[in-house]
Amino acid sequence: MATIELSGVRKAYGATPVIHGVDLAIRDGEFVVFVGPSGCGKSTLLRMIAGLEDITGGEIRIDGRVVNAEPPAQRGLAMVFQSYALYPHMSVRQNLSFGLENLRMPRAEIERRVADAARMLQIDVLLERKPRQLSGGQRQRVAIGRAIVREPRAFLFDEPLSNLDAKLRQDMRLEIKRLHQRLGATMIYVTHDQVEAMTMADRIVVLNGGRIEQVGPPRALYRDPATRFVAGFIGAPPMNMIPVAMATGQATLPGGAIVAVATPAGAAGSAVLGIRPEHLVRDPSGFAATVELVEPLGADTLVSARLGGGETMVTARLPGDAEIPIGATLRLGFDPHDAVLLDPETGARLRA
Ligand SMILES: Nc1ncnc2c1ncn2[C@@H]1O[C@H](COP(=O)(O)OP(=O)(O)OP(=O)(O)O)[C@@H](O)[C@H]1O
Ligand SMILES: [Mg+2]
Repeated sequence: MATIELSGVRKAYGATPVIHGVDLAIRDGEFVVFVGPSGCGKSTLLRMIAGLEDITGGEIRIDGRVVNAEPPAQRGLAMVFQSYALYPHMSVRQNLSFGLENLRMPRAEIERRVADAARMLQIDVLLERKPRQLSGGQRQRVAIGRAIVREPRAFLFDEPLSNLDAKLRQDMRLEIKRLHQRLGATMIYVTHDQVEAMTMADRIVVLNGGRIEQVGPPRALYRDPATRFVAGFIGAPPMNMIPVAMATGQATLPGGAIVAVATPAGAAGSAVLGIRPEHLVRDPSGFAATVELVEPLGADTLVSARLGGGETMVTARLPGDAEIPIGATLRLGFDPHDAVLLDPETGARLRA
């Protein structure tokens, strides 16, 4: 069990800075997900915590102890990668026990740990097989098993499911969550998939360009994004971003329709109005939009429509039973509390 604290953590490769000063305190037993687009620094940050990458500046503490100079083995963390990195010539059992044998652990203890992990991951019937005789999901389970048998203070996962198909990913996502509940261990999980982040995390850390954009529980990030980046990244399909002209308590959409929104007092000038597809509803007194694309998903239908003959498109998630012809004029509205206003230059929230 471990707390993990980062203060002012920076990383540069040569003269190129890639992590610009990250502060984060991870609680004991917490499931924290690092999410963000490719190249934002998720793996680098995780590898610095693991000790696989040295730190250009700042401090990393595990259970209060500064570990900047400690080699990976002494940190007591276990890492699971996207590539399973199993030994091809060894059986599953040997893959699981190999690391422990190197530590000269007593045979009986090794056997107990391997048996426990295999049972937990439901790979006990596969122990005598070689990795090439396993499916992708089974291999990933063995890789996780290899981390479990070490009984680490914390688990670090770097996109462990990205080689699996969609269905298997969903199953493994649940399994890793269950494992977390069962072991109660601190886990840091890296992904670029916001659905994975939303479904797994106690808290999500949204990274962008080597900086933290926002940290919070999934629902808080969804309901109350601090920046345009977070607003657009969390949620699928993404939040609609509509350029508007603001006045106190209202905004003018492209095409001229005026909608009520919570603005800062005395607000004037341009802004971006963010509204999620699931928060748009049909409203006879709402603004007009011309339907261009209809995607029936069963339970609901995604409708893309153009505002006032201009360039701006919005997507609405409407009930699946609605018959909506292409070319029709929809009237849409939303609850002002569901909209966010963003600074068009900085992307910062403009709060009422
Ligand atoms: N060994 C290295 N030398 C130089 N630059 C590197 C090195 N490793 C990573 N970088 C750079 O650091 C930045 C962060 O990389 P990192 O691998 O942490 O991103 P990531 O968020 O994990 O991306 P992905 O989702 O694609 O895995 C990138 O711009 C990358 O090009
Ligand atoms: Mg990565």
